[in-house]
Amino acid sequence: MPNRPKVFVARIIPDDGLRKVTEATDATVWQDELPPPREKLLASVAGCEGVLTLLTDRVDAEFLERAGPQLKVVSNYAVGFDNVDVPECTRRGIPVGNTPGVLTETTADLAFALVMAAARRVAEGDRYVRAGKWKTWGPMLLMGPDVHGATIGIVGFGRIGQAVAKRAAGFGMTILYHDVNELPADVTRPLGATYTPLEELFARSDFVSLHVNLTPETTHLIDAAALRSMKKTAVLVNTSRGPVVDGKALFEALRAGEISAAALDVTEPEPLPADDPLLTLDNCLVVPHIASASRATRGKMAEMAADNLLAGLRGERLPTPVNPEVYDG
Ligand code: DGY
Repeated sequence: MPNRPKVFVARIIPDDGLRKVTEATDATVWQDELPPPREKLLASVAGCEGVLTLLTDRVDAEFLERAGPQLKVVSNYAVGFDNVDVPECTRRGIPVGNTPGVLTETTADLAFALVMAAARRVAEGDRYVRAGKWKTWGPMLLMGPDVHGATIGIVGFGRIGQAVAKRAAGFGMTILYHDVNELPADVTRPLGATYTPLEELFARSDFVSLHVNLTPETTHLIDAAALRSMKKTAVLVNTSRGPVVDGKALFEALRAGEISAAALDVTEPEPLPADDPLLTLDNCLVVPHIASASRATRGKMAEMAADNLLAGLRGERLPTPVNPEVYDG
C-alpha cells in the first residue's frame, strides 16, 4: 500500500498473519499476554484505519467513536463475533471480518476430546495419580459411561456441530440434533443425524454438546430447567460461548447429581475465577477456551484475519465479511 495505513493489532497472533500486516501497514501490536485494558484499547485505536481485534476486545459504539471516522475495517480473529456490535459497524459503513471454516475440524476435535475426557474421567484420573492415590488396579475405580454406542444431542447444527456429528458417527453413536430450523436431508442423512425438538433431545441424550452462537435467545439456554430435563447420567459439553450455560445452575445440577458431568471450554466469565464453585467439583472439567488452539488452525486464522484487514484497508470487499449488507447500495 502506498501510504502505510495506521492499524492496531490487539495481541500477538501467529506470524502467518502478523507478518503480512506488519509488512503492509504502520502497525502497533499490543505485546502483552493480557488484552489491552479498555482505556488503553480506546487510546490505541484512535486514528486507525484498521483494527485487528480478538474476542476479548469489545467493539461497540464507544470504540468506533474513539477510533474515528477514518476507520475502514474491523477484522476479528475468531469465527465468533459476539464481542462486536455488528449493526453499529454496519450503520457506520464499516465491514467486519471473521475467520469461519478454518477452525471447524479443530474445534470439533476438542469438543469430542471433552466428550471422551468427561465420560472416561481423564482429568480426574490424572489428578488421582499425581496425588499419590494409585495403589492398585481397582475393579471399581473411576468408572464412567461408554461413549461408543451412546446417544449424543448436538445443539446448533452448523459447521462445527456437523463436524462433531462426523466424529460421533465413527463411534457408532445415535445422533440427535437441534437447530432453529430442520436442515435439508442431503445434509443430515449422510451424518445419520435426526432433527429433534430441544426438550426431547435433552431427555434422550447421554451427551449434550453445544454449538450455538451467542445471541439473546441462546443466553442461558442451558438453565436449571434444561439441566433438570436431562438424564441423571448426562454429560454436558460446551465449546460454544460461556453464557450459553447458566454456571450457577450448572454447579447446582452437578452437585445435586441432576446430571453426571460437564466439560467446558468456555465459561462465564472468562477467565473463570480460581474460586469459582465449579472448580471445586471433580465432575466438572474446565479448559481455557482452547478449542481452536492447534498450531495449524491458529496460523490459518491469523492469515484470514490479516487478509480481511488488508482487503478492508484497500477498500476491497473482505473475503469473509460478517455484515455483507454493508456493501449493499
Ligand atoms: C472463535 O473463533 O470464535 C473461538 O471461540 C476461538 O477460536
